[in-house]
Amino acid sequence: MLIVQISDLHIVEKGQKTLGVAPMAENLSKAIAHINQLLPQPDLVLATGDITNNLTLAEAEHAVQLLNELNCPYFVIPGNHDNREVLLQAFSGPAIPGCFEGMINYTIENHPVRLIGVDSTKPNTVGGHMCQKRLDWLEAQLNEELKKPTIIFMHHPPVKAGVLEADYDGFVGASELGAIVEKFTNIERIICGHIHLPTHTKWHGTIVSTAPSMGMQLGLDLTMTKPSEFYLTVPGYQIHHYTKHHDLVTHTAYVGNMDGPYSFA
Ligand SMILES: [Fe+2]
Ligand SMILES: [Fe+2]
Repeated sequence: MLIVQISDLHIVEKGQKTLGVAPMAENLSKAIAHINQLLPQPDLVLATGDITNNLTLAEAEHAVQLLNELNCPYFVIPGNHDNREVLLQAFSGPAIPGCFEGMINYTIENHPVRLIGVDSTKPNTVGGHMCQKRLDWLEAQLNEELKKPTIIFMHHPPVKAGVLEADYDGFVGASELGAIVEKFTNIERIICGHIHLPTHTKWHGTIVSTAPSMGMQLGLDLTMTKPSEFYLTVPGYQIHHYTKHHDLVTHTAYVGNMDGPYSFA
């Protein structure tokens, strides 16, 4: 099974650039063309939040139009740059197959890997949030399948990743989430976005990973003293490959013109 994860699309209205500089619609289109020619083809694409930049319906509808160019099914969860109601209105079809008490939580079944999408947002809040209702919902979902390999996907990483966007923005309820996660040894990954950098961290018996963005890469500052900045880069995305050996292997793909290939011989 091949699961593609794209994150932090930050789509704005047609004809505009995000924050005046980042051509995010163009980047997303290039990434989609790249994904559409992958062999084998992905079973599905997960978009892990920050679909829009300014939470508007026009932006979400623009994102729908772009994402509909994917050849395979895709699924969406919100980030802190999204409005749940707006996403629900724009993505009225199978991209959001379920909701729980107004939050965009759902489980994708009938694949070799079970995929549980959790809404980690709280309106008007930058950081992550897990309320008791969401935690109870997640634990109930996990209890339904104790053996099947499972991925949890959500926007905010619940780890302290050593960069401002994770550590300063924070994640209310992270320790409560961790206490649930460590009960289930079948959780292969918790895959997230938000920090616009690819990272991997061991956490409560599983691995939390974050995806690169669609071309607004966080300026890496491990001193956590500089103001948040981003660089215009080629778009990147994750390919989570559940192999015939039953291992989940994660690759990071970058969409750009590279010189090569050259032979190793
Ligand atoms: Fe983002
Ligand atoms: Fe975010």
